[in-house]
Amino acid sequence: MTAPAISSKTAAVILAAGKGTRMRSDLPKVLHPVAGVPLIHHVAAAARASGADHLVAVLSPALVDVGDSLPGIEIAIQDPPRGTGHAVAAALPLLRGQEGGVLILFGDTPLIEAETLGRLRAALDAPNVAVAVLGFRPDQPGAYGRLVTDGEGGLAAIVEAAEANAEQLAIPLCNAGVMAIRAEHLADLVGAIDDTNAKGEFYLTDVVAIARLRGLAVAVVEGAADEVLGVNSRVELAEAEGVMQDRLRRRHMAAGVSFEDPVSVRLALDTELGRDVTVAPHVVFGPKVKVADGVRIHAFSHIEGATVEAGAIVGPFARLRPGAVVGKGAHVGNFVELKNAVLGEGAKANHLTYLGDATVGAGANIGAGTITCNYDGFNKARTEIGEGAFIGSNTALVAPVSVGDGAIVGAGSVVVEPVAADALYLERARPVQKPGWAARFRAAMRDALKSKTKE
Ligand code: UD1
Ligand code: MG
Repeated sequence: MTAPAISSKTAAVILAAGKGTRMRSDLPKVLHPVAGVPLIHHVAAAARASGADHLVAVLSPALVDVGDSLPGIEIAIQDPPRGTGHAVAAALPLLRGQEGGVLILFGDTPLIEAETLGRLRAALDAPNVAVAVLGFRPDQPGAYGRLVTDGEGGLAAIVEAAEANAEQLAIPLCNAGVMAIRAEHLADLVGAIDDTNAKGEFYLTDVVAIARLRGLAVAVVEGAADEVLGVNSRVELAEAEGVMQDRLRRRHMAAGVSFEDPVSVRLALDTELGRDVTVAPHVVFGPKVKVADGVRIHAFSHIEGATVEAGAIVGPFARLRPGAVVGKGAHVGNFVELKNAVLGEGAKANHLTYLGDATVGAGANIGAGTITCNYDGFNKARTEIGEGAFIGSNTALVAPVSVGDGAIVGAGSVVVEPVAADALYLERARPVQKPGWAARFRAAMRDALKSKTKE
């Protein structure tokens, strides 16, 4: 007899039809963010990175809007929720004809790693294995399902805590909730689950005993406890954030990034940091940030949706908002905000400045207190500043407006018309200076005060 051909295709079903009531939130639980990204996206990203190319999320009708924020993921609706086995059954119509393996994941366990899913998936390739279960050893086994092994390296059954006897409750190896099932057995195994148990639910975990009854083997793969932390409350959300932040920082450090005070830095899942980037304490990275090699980011900077090119210096106290591009070797100093603005190579905006909807040419110098007035209450308009231009301190650039290459704008100007290349633009009242006036003024005031107190 020849062994059946093994398909390496993989689907992933993400169960997320639970109510999430303990979050006490108007936002669906699986959309709460960790590292700037909704919980369910972490799970989907891990599934994709492990090789799954067909993703299905199981949602309750109340969560159907969540589907809009899940590009590339098919949606199955479970109504009403009657257990994890019932949730997988809701996804079966979308898995008809699926080959290979099907990963089953929970939408609220954002810390699961692609490598672990890959090991679980690979366990399905052993002869006769129909199901592979992710086990872990928690400090407190509590309400987790217990993994009953068969003494031959396989799994005999999963017993839910509510059904377990004292001997079974003493088993330290628990069900993480993640499973892989061979696609050709999925409908049969899931279809055989019933609800005759303590909770009257369809337990997905029953597929283990059902597979064994069919003469199929069940493998167990062990994972780390911190990968399967489920988020049910805001406290667990914060714990998951902590684990994820630590993981992301370590990953960046391993790739050549220095953090002067790692625990005070917040990263997003998609933050890209180049080699020899240095990040000072208390820096926050929101989503979609790319930082090239050799950049220094000083303390208390807040960066999102921005690109920082090689060798640039940012902060302290800089704010880079979406669409900000800091060119090669450019400087963005304290209390400088960039939004949808490009600062050219080697340009400097070192103090107290707002550049919004602007382009600043290479080598330009933006003086302290420069403001692009980009918004008139109705529309946004652009400011273009040429290469090597010099904008004096406390200049207001009333957009739309442009300053040509090499032009100089005198301090305190309000720029309301295009400034030609290499021109000087100055808008200043003629100064008045009266020698000795201040001393005479003080003497007169003192005399007036004296005669008043004598009265
Ligand atoms: C489940 C496992 C348990 C395991 C634990 C790990 C079962 C029967 N038990 O228990 O062995 O140790 O996870 O955390 O599977 N969901 C639905 N529809 C439903 C019910 C649940 O989509 O009808 C989703 C939930 O949104 C959640 C996931 O499935 O993402 C897990 O459900 P949950 O109720 O937390 O299962 P546990 O009781 O924790
Ligand atoms: Mg749970």
